[in-house]
Amino acid sequence: MPDAPRFFDTRPVRAIRTAASHGQPMDRLRITGGGPLAGEVGVAGAKNAALPILAATLLTGDEVVLENVPQLADVTTMGRLLAGMGARLSREGSRVVAKADAIGAAEAPYELVKTMRASILVLGPLLARFGQARVSLPGGCAIGARPVDQHIKGLRALGAQLQIEHGYIVAEASRLKGARIVTDMVTVTGTENLMMAAVLADGETVIENAAREPEVVDLARCLNAMGARIRGAGSDCVVIDGVERLHGATHRVLPDRIETGTFLVAAAACGGDVRLTGAAPETLEAVLDKLRQAGAEVEAGADWVRLRARGRPRPVSLRTAPYPGFPTDMQAQFMALDCIADGVGRITETIFENRFMHVLELQRLGAQIDIEGSTAVVRGVPKLSGASVMATDLRASASLVVAGLVAEGETIVDRIYHLDRGYDRMEARLAALGARIERLK
Ligand code: EPZ
Repeated sequence: MPDAPRFFDTRPVRAIRTAASHGQPMDRLRITGGGPLAGEVGVAGAKNAALPILAATLLTGDEVVLENVPQLADVTTMGRLLAGMGARLSREGSRVVAKADAIGAAEAPYELVKTMRASILVLGPLLARFGQARVSLPGGCAIGARPVDQHIKGLRALGAQLQIEHGYIVAEASRLKGARIVTDMVTVTGTENLMMAAVLADGETVIENAAREPEVVDLARCLNAMGARIRGAGSDCVVIDGVERLHGATHRVLPDRIETGTFLVAAAACGGDVRLTGAAPETLEAVLDKLRQAGAEVEAGADWVRLRARGRPRPVSLRTAPYPGFPTDMQAQFMALDCIADGVGRITETIFENRFMHVLELQRLGAQIDIEGSTAVVRGVPKLSGASVMATDLRASASLVVAGLVAEGETIVDRIYHLDRGYDRMEARLAALGARIERLK
């Protein structure tokens, strides 16, 4: 294990305040709207690939080297969760080295799980490698109830016994046995958890109705590099042939398509000419299509995307859907774009039951939005006006930043620890593109 600076300390979890690791809990952003964005910015690795892939390092005692890991609060939380179990992790920039050869307690405590629901992703690997796990139920969050019944159903199909005791999932399995699993709905982390459990199971597992997200594919690539035998990742039917053990590997995390989309929407709203490098344009075709519909000029190469826009965007209507449909994680950002479009856009959220928290805050900036069931009807206005607003969840905060960039006058976005969970120093990178934005401690 290199003597690199320890990235994840192993203090008792109660001493850990993950939000503070990436800015202070009550940080705010001050944005002065107006003016185009111009220049080039690099895209970080995908948060929603890095999280399951970090959990996957529990599946072997060998060293796993991960490149292009984003520097985000959620990644720090996952690292601390693993370190709290005894895994040894170190980080240098976007390179993380993990070695889970001395795992003690196969447990994910409530203190950490309540700050990051993706902690549930350690359940599959712990069961697969150690035959037991005690993982706190994630509980709900701002965007919805977020149950994990499909994770539990699938693990039971693989032969695990799972009980819910005092808010914890207590699971055990002598050895998981391959099975055919059909999830009731498409679930990203559900597919990932079951895939990770199945790689060490006895025999073949088939996951039908599997999530097709690029982050699922990236996890499968990493697991196969570790010696797993997974076929069909990226389709709705994933087949896993269980093996005896996994070994170490080196894996580069794929670029974050949601971060890419967020910067492109900001440029489409502000006008200007922005080029994103280190991107994976083929993973956000539905988003690029909607940006073109909004009137932006979008060009893409193998690992870059360029967007040029000027004047008011045209309104776009969209329905969120599992990949390759329009991603729910881009819904709030596009709503901000529609707020200033020259017409009416209809945005329908089909994945989560409460993912319109940003509507109330956008209305404070002068947006004209009516909610009809799971559809927001957005009547574009020529101008938003700056105000104090509050972030409620990760992508809602990104939406408020985009709105603040085009609003007249000053906007203060409060509780941006939500933003820090999924974006690495967003304000610094927007400022480098010419935005007037700063973090207030
Ligand atoms: C993943 O969450 C992402 N998080 C989310 O990104 C993303 O919004 C979501 O997928 C949808 O794309 C990570 O990958 C870490 P789901 P996940 O299971 O896996 C219901 C962000 O902003 N469901 O695909 O939790 C669920 O309630 C985050 O980066 C069950 O009912 O989402 C939802 O309505 C936010 N039972 C739908 O399925 C289950 O057991 C899809 O959820 C599982 C899910």
